[in-house]
Amino acid sequence: MRMRRKRNLDERLAACGDVVIHPELTDKNMKTSVLRKEYLDLAALFGNDRPVRVEIGSGKGFFACSLAKLHPEYNVLAVEMISNVAIVGAERAKAEGIANVKFLISRAECLEKYLREGCAEAIYLNFSTPLPKDGYAKQRLTHERFLRIYERLLTPDGVICQKTDNVPFFEFSMEQFRRCGFTLSGITYDLKEGDIPENIVTEHEKMFSERGIPICRLEARKGEKV
Ligand SMILES: C[S@@+](CC[C@H](N)C(=O)[O-])C[C@H]1O[C@@H](n2cnc3c(N)ncnc32)[C@H](O)[C@@H]1O
Repeated sequence: MRMRRKRNLDERLAACGDVVIHPELTDKNMKTSVLRKEYLDLAALFGNDRPVRVEIGSGKGFFACSLAKLHPEYNVLAVEMISNVAIVGAERAKAEGIANVKFLISRAECLEKYLREGCAEAIYLNFSTPLPKDGYAKQRLTHERFLRIYERLLTPDGVICQKTDNVPFFEFSMEQFRRCGFTLSGITYDLKEGDIPENIVTEHEKMFSERGIPICRLEARKGEKV
């Protein structure tokens, strides 16, 4: 279902200009566009050079804002392709004065246009759309083609944290991570039983947990076993 454009969206985005990065993609061909780099100066954007953590598919930004509030020692970049949705988090960040979170309105496919290699110490994939039909496997945010991008964006000891309620998608993701040479740890099919010292609940997680649906989680690191 297509989401109706929020009223005054352009004005609202403009009002959040210090929180939202909304690049105009003049080249609609993503493959060629990505080759023309327009790297963001993250240190200038955040006003410091603290480590950066990236959430991809951040929705309304509930997780990103909470993470930033809890951890002023790092910067949080929330990436969401739908401006209609991202604006909710951006307005919250502005209203609450959360200085260490910014919202990049972009498709994950384009991230290497804006972000330099090795810029992220962690990437969060929270409740990425599972897209169950076989024909859509390549669009899933844990498909090999995305994992290759994340691998380049991560610092050498960087980590990807995935959470999902969808077991077939979780198993697909594990297979893709392993195929790309990631080492998996902390795998759980029920987060309640796992030993996660600090779990920040996302909007989708809240909804699924309230329905009693168990949450799957894993961490993926490049290279050798941890
Ligand atoms: C199911 S929602 C999850 C939102 C939030 N992370 C949560 O846990 O509540 C998935 C989000 O991923 C975004 N998304 C899907 N594919 C994307 C892509 N290729 N690039 C950027 N965002 C994407 C969707 O627009 C949607 O907001």
